[in-house]
Amino acid sequence: MKKTILVTGGAGYIGSHTVVELLEAQYSVIVIDNLYNSSIGAITAIKNITGKDLIFYEGDCTDFNFLKNIFNKNKIDAVIHFAGYKAVGESVEKPLFYYKNNLDSTMTLLAVMREFLCTKFVFSSSATVYLDPNDVKYNETTTQTNRPFSPYGSTKLVQEYILEDVAKGFEFEKVGGLQVVSLRYFNPIGAHFSGELGEDPNGVPNNLAPYITQVAVGRLRTLQVFGDDYPTPDGTCLRDYIHVVDLAKGHLSGLEYIFAKEGKFFDPINLGTGAPVSVFQVIESFSKAVGKSIPYEVVGRRSGDLAEFYADPVKAKKVLDWQTTLDLDKMTADSWNWQKRHPNGFKNL
Ligand code: NAD
Ligand code: UFG
Repeated sequence: MKKTILVTGGAGYIGSHTVVELLEAQYSVIVIDNLYNSSIGAITAIKNITGKDLIFYEGDCTDFNFLKNIFNKNKIDAVIHFAGYKAVGESVEKPLFYYKNNLDSTMTLLAVMREFLCTKFVFSSSATVYLDPNDVKYNETTTQTNRPFSPYGSTKLVQEYILEDVAKGFEFEKVGGLQVVSLRYFNPIGAHFSGELGEDPNGVPNNLAPYITQVAVGRLRTLQVFGDDYPTPDGTCLRDYIHVVDLAKGHLSGLEYIFAKEGKFFDPINLGTGAPVSVFQVIESFSKAVGKSIPYEVVGRRSGDLAEFYADPVKAKKVLDWQTTLDLDKMTADSWNWQKRHPNGFKNL
């Protein structure tokens, strides 16, 4: 029998790409999204790409009765929880808004799952939970010596604590315990190969890749490179960029893992390539994809940026039998393919 997966935040960037992979792998999918940072156009695109249907509920994961109603109507085998606010800068300005949404949605989901005896949980975590400036190749045992830089980062760390504590506790005992895999993403970029699904941030993008594609398509004038005086080979920061389709596939491996394993556990796993790449290398790769150079100017460092961090991806290979397959040039080519076909994202669809 087909398993049914509830995907919260499934209209968003990573969620929508994951829903495509789930449908293509013959799962039944139910998406919940309040469309705070996404568009119904993503759901239409998923259906067009896959030729498959899904159930979509517009609503909020902090709404207990809304979630209860969905669990009442559908037999849900597992939850992948993407829903959350993610803008680092905004979280500094509106911490309460971030803590309320991100923590409340996870706790409300857990409460409803317990009521409906659903025990399989895949969580969208982030490399931001590490933040150890002395140990830049992060593996799952890297200690958290500092508190995360932003309230957003703190919400991710606290959500991990909640999930770990609930997995260890006895509230799911009568159904054999809660099984959680917490996927710590590094820097997702790229888009679906079709060019019909991609990243569509509201307002001026904070992140490097969508900023560059919006410069390339003429929506923004010049990229600002935040510092070229870091202690790295070309002076710009190093990050671990991962193709969103590789990342999406990592969630299917995460699901298989929790479906195969009983008992109670919380397992954090990095999803990254393991390869550090500089801002200048990303710009160069985009220039190749676009076929002309990307205009940029070097400005001062952005507050809170670390010189480098990247994944140790060994655990994902060992535990999930998952590794990335798509390189930087494929990431930038796909990001650009999406942006040039949809200069205004989903707005005109
Ligand atoms: P996104 O904003 O595109 O997707 C999140 C979706 O959740 C949006 O569609 C939004 O409308 C929805 N949402 C937010 N709060 C909700 C709520 N209370 N109820 C229902 N829907 C709600 O972001 P994304 O890049 O796809 O990220 C998905 C997840 O991965 C987030 O939890 C994010 O923190 C995490 N993450 C993202 C990155 C990244 O760089 N994109 C890196 C690490 C972790
Ligand atoms: N950068 C620029 N100019 C820009 C935007 C970014 O030079 O306009 C640089 C940054 O200084 C950094 C690199 O590009 O060196 C990557 O920056 P991003 O904003 O794209 O990504 P971050 O590494 O800062 O953060 C991302 C997510 C966080 C997440 C973190 C780890 O935005 O939510 O990865 O997963 F926590």
